[in-house]
Amino acid sequence: MSADAKVDLVVTGGTIVTHDAVFAGDIAIDKGVIAAVGLPGAMPAAREVLDATGLHLLPGAIDVHVHFREPGYTHKEDWETGTAAAAMGGVTTVFDMPNVDPPTGTPAALALKLQAARKAYVDYGIYGLLAEDNIDQLEALIEGGVAGFKCFMGNTFGNLPSPSTGAMLEGLEIIARHGYRISLHAETASIMARRQTKLMAAGKNAPLDHLSARPAVVAIEAVARAAILAEWTGARIHVLHISSADELRPLREAKARGVDITGETCPQYLIHDTDDYGRLGSIIRVNPPIREPHHKHALWAALADGTIDMIATDHAPHLPEEKIRNDIWSADCGWPGVETQMPLMLTGVHDGKLSISDYVRISSYNPARAWGLYPRKGNIQPGADADIAIVDLGREQIIDQEQLASRAKITTFDKMRTKGLPVHTLVRGRFVMRNRKLVTEARGHGESVRRIQRMPKPQPRHTDQTTAAVLGLRSR
Ligand code: DOR
Ligand code: ZN
Repeated sequence: MSADAKVDLVVTGGTIVTHDAVFAGDIAIDKGVIAAVGLPGAMPAAREVLDATGLHLLPGAIDVHVHFREPGYTHKEDWETGTAAAAMGGVTTVFDMPNVDPPTGTPAALALKLQAARKAYVDYGIYGLLAEDNIDQLEALIEGGVAGFKCFMGNTFGNLPSPSTGAMLEGLEIIARHGYRISLHAETASIMARRQTKLMAAGKNAPLDHLSARPAVVAIEAVARAAILAEWTGARIHVLHISSADELRPLREAKARGVDITGETCPQYLIHDTDDYGRLGSIIRVNPPIREPHHKHALWAALADGTIDMIATDHAPHLPEEKIRNDIWSADCGWPGVETQMPLMLTGVHDGKLSISDYVRISSYNPARAWGLYPRKGNIQPGADADIAIVDLGREQIIDQEQLASRAKITTFDKMRTKGLPVHTLVRGRFVMRNRKLVTEARGHGESVRRIQRMPKPQPRHTDQTTAAVLGLRSR
């Protein structure tokens, strides 16, 4: 850089937090990228200087589990409101799920999703669907720009049918050859269907009956089965929304066997338990369900010890009238979360459940590594995208569902007191949220992560010959 050239922005006076360090430092940002990280006062001249005295600079959160509902269900959310909610929550990258209408299972449907995503405030990855009837579309979805796949082993909103184990194996065989990770809604459909039918026939329709239809065995069986298929094929998999202590055993065992498996949990499984069903009624309906209190303690411990790799939200917006029902089976599942994750988890840090570097590890560093975005995302270092959440760790807030940027103004976290709040959000050097206000001019700034994503092809497996024979693929 010539002596008189100025960088775009210097952030000065703050405390930088990474997955393995906390230090006083300044950051210089130029052309969307971190140009320098260094001692306070040692930065180049800048066109703009932001004083972050008293604030902490975190790599922006990467939420690999959101439902932005477009196309198909835009009365609940769309890409503008969903990514605005992300920006308000310090989330700089989101991965969006395929249970929209039409489901993201063909290149034509993917094109509609990519068109919708042009409104995004933050960067994004798009999940392609892995279903029974679209195995022949998976490679075209990769060519079309998906960043990963989603397989619904159990039914949830959208009621996409679950693939048979046979179709799932074929899907994993194909995707393994390209290295992309497959995220699993790991609940076994056939177990849940039988139980729900019996409960309904017996006239049981209270909130806790939803939990009876989906005991933890539903998830344990699915995680263990998926891990076997991943081990056989070499596919990379990710267990979404881990809700029980019991799933940790098949997750740990698969990791020990060398399966490339990652796992997430969500704030709802760390904060709520069965004691909340009475107070929240049908609003608490979510898949997988909120469980007995001992589960959440095990999930906090698993986040701290690394068994669970990351925090995501399963941001699942629905309208109040779709959530508040007398009959639990007619209430929609889930609630918005992309906006409240950071304040809720920073409250956990404040309460001593995790360190602030632990939080960066689970909210940004590990998701970036699992999805091939590291080192461009997931860290604060020269050469990385300047995706930064600037947070006030002392700032208290009472969550108010009416104030959410999401179109869905209903959450189980309403009226909860939090400590720690993002005050500015930068995506590739640009403010998308500033002083707690959305920067509306930044609409459309978001880009697909495929630009930077690198998923190295895994080592060929012994299944390659059989895969080639059955699927008519070239063997490697
Ligand atoms: O509760 C849920 N809602 N769980 C899911 O897995 C999907 C989500 C939705 O799309 O509403
Ligand atoms: Zn989900």
